[in-house]
Formats: sequence, C-alpha cells, structure tokens
Amino acid sequence: MSDKKQDDLDYETTGHEWDGIREYNKPLPKWWLWTFYATIVWGVGYTIAYPAWPMVTGATAGVLGYSTRAEVAEEIARVEEANGPINEKLASVDLAAIQDDPELLSYAGNAGGAVYRSWCAQCHGSGAAGSSQAGWAAGYPNLLDDDWLWGGSIEAIHETISHGIRNETDPDARFSQMPAFGRDELLSGEEVDQVVNHVMVLSGQEPFDPAGAEAGAEVYAINCASCHGDDGTGDRDQGAPNLTDAIWLYGGDFASIRESVWNARYGVMPAWSDRLSEAEVRAVATYVHSLGGGEASEAE
Ligand code: HEC
Ligand code: HEC
Repeated sequence: MSDKKQDDLDYETTGHEWDGIREYNKPLPKWWLWTFYATIVWGVGYTIAYPAWPMVTGATAGVLGYSTRAEVAEEIARVEEANGPINEKLASVDLAAIQDDPELLSYAGNAGGAVYRSWCAQCHGSGAAGSSQAGWAAGYPNLLDDDWLWGGSIEAIHETISHGIRNETDPDARFSQMPAFGRDELLSGEEVDQVVNHVMVLSGQEPFDPAGAEAGAEVYAINCASCHGDDGTGDRDQGAPNLTDAIWLYGGDFASIRESVWNARYGVMPAWSDRLSEAEVRAVATYVHSLGGGEASEAE
C-alpha cells in the first residue's frame, strides 16, 4: 500500500504515526457492538434464570427452578412407569416361564445386563469371567462356564442372587463351611501334604509325592469326601467345588491347594433381595443364566 493511497482515504486518524504509518481512528462496526452488548445482557439474564454461581454448598438455583437432577429423576420415573407392567409380569411369573416368553426374555436379558454392570461386575468382572481373567483376585467364580458351585438352573441362580452366600445379613443365605484343617489342627502337617497330593491326582496333575498321594486318599475319604464327594466331583448342596476339573476358584498348584486346606477360604457373596426389586433380581438371574452355563429349569 503506497502513502498516496492511504492519503486518498478520508478517515480520521488518532494522530499517532510511525515511519509514515498512521493509526486510523476507526470504531467497531455498530452491528458488532450491539451483538456484543446483547451477549452481556443475555449472560447476566442467564445466570439469574438458571443455576450458575458456585456457592459454598452447591450453586445459585436460578429463578426458573431448572435442575438437571430433577430432569433425570423425571426421566427415570417416566421409564419406570412405562416398564411397570412388564416388571410386574417379570416379578410374578414362574421363573421357568421367562424362557418361554420371547418378549419377557429379551426385556429381562437387557435389564439384567444393566443390573449386572452396576452391581456385579466389580466382583465377577465386566465380562463375568471372574477370577479366571488375568490379574483378577481369586475366589470370584466365572459365571460364563457350566461349572457351578451352587447350581446353574434359573431357580438355583435366582436363589443364590436373592440371598447371597455365607453373608451374615441374610438368614436364608446359602451356607457351608470347610474346616481349616491345618490351622485348627484337625490334621497334622504331614496329613495335609498327603491330602494335597491326592487332590493333585484327583485333578489330573502329577503329585509331588506319589507315595504321599496314596496315603492322602485315605485322609481324603475320612475328611473331605462328605463334602467334595467320594470321587471329588463336589456337592452343590454344600457349595463344595468339583476338585476333578481344571477349574479352580483359588488356584490348583500345590501351594494354593495347601492354603485352601490349611486355612479354608469362606467366600462371601452379598444378598441382593433387600437392595434390588424382585424384577431386577429375576432380570439379572436371567442374564447370568443366559451367559453360557445356564442349566435346564428344575421345574421341568
Ligand atoms: C462383593 C463381591 C461380589 C459381588 C458384588 C457379587 N458377587 Fe456373586 N459371588 C461372589 C463370591 C465370592 C462368590 C462365590 C462364593 C462361594 O465361594 O461359594 C459368588 C458367587 C456367585 C454365584 C454362584 C456361582 C456358582 O458357581 O454357583 C452367582 C450366580 C453370582 N455370584 C452372581 C452374582 C450376581 C448376579 C451379582 C450382582 C447382582 C453378584 N454375584 C455380585 C462375590 C460377589
Ligand atoms: C464341610 C464341607 C467341606 C469339607 C469337609 C471339605 N471341604 Fe473343601 N471346600 C468346601 C467349600 C464349601 C469350598 C469352597 C470354598 C469356600 O469356602 O469359599 C471348598 C474349597 C476347597 C478347595 C478349593 C477349590 C478351588 O476351586 O480353589 C480345595 C482344594 C478343597 N476344598 C479341598 C478340600 C480337602 C482336601 C478337604 C479335606 C481335607 C476338604 N476340602 C474338606 C467344603 C468342604
């Protein structure tokens, strides 16, 4: 831009000049200014109308009384009302009948998945693989397989979820207690080692001490068979695990089995009938039953 052209323009200057460059005194366009003022007015109005200014406990409520929380509560109430009839049906039909009603089954599976993710995943894992997933703490059963401690029919799963296992808050909880054979001196250290070797044989592993394993068979028959069965396949009435499959709640190596026998484990699962509605318990039972290991209904 040449000096000449600048001189041609008929603008006021501020009187400042640097090396021939002069500063025009050019106001902001009117439309821009008014828009700017309008946003200020809007902003102030907004903070009066809606929740805005942080206070010590919460924020100013706003004269319109709008609250995102109230909106969510309303939305929840609306959904609950819409689901009322199907929840009522889910809570009242025979457990076995859920499978035969496609609409109910699909609703229960979806609702049960949501209950599962909120209440069960922290112990059994988001994929329900429990302790069998890498890095997961021991003692949380895999709910995907067909290996059940207490039973895999819809009725058995419903019972387990409703009342829990070995929890003291529910008198109807499933209960059994394996004795701490070592700690409570029911067996000598040698006998414990022998029976652990026998359990390794039962589960198809090489025992550390084959002679010990043989002696352990007798220790087993006297002390363990009443719960784990003569052949080691377990007993669902007592939640005693099958010791002959390769599925372990607490680990199948010598040291882990020895710890199970020495101190016993006493796994606790919370009861849910006091925290979830009957429809929710049935929904999550249906969901777990559908995961792959569900067994035929006891009613059939
Ligand atoms: C605080 C941890 C915890 C939470 C939360 C939990 N569980 Fe469990 N669950 C356990 C433990 C531990 C066991 C195994 C108890 C035992 O040794 O018998 C178990 C066992 C079970 C079993 C029995 C499995 C079998 O083989 O018989 C089912 C079914 C089950 N849980 C479902 C659920 C569902 C559904 C939820 C959510 C509503 C849930 N659990 C929440 C810890 C938990
Ligand atoms: C009163 C019944 C009872 C008796 C008797 C009993 N157990 Fe158990 N055992 C259980 C239960 C129930 C569990 C499940 C773990 C728990 O308590 O949470 C279990 C768990 C185990 C486990 C862990 C299995 C796993 O999957 O990690 C081993 C190993 C075991 N028992 C071996 C034995 C041996 C060996 C004896 C005999 C010396 C024995 N048990 C006697 C009830 C019994």
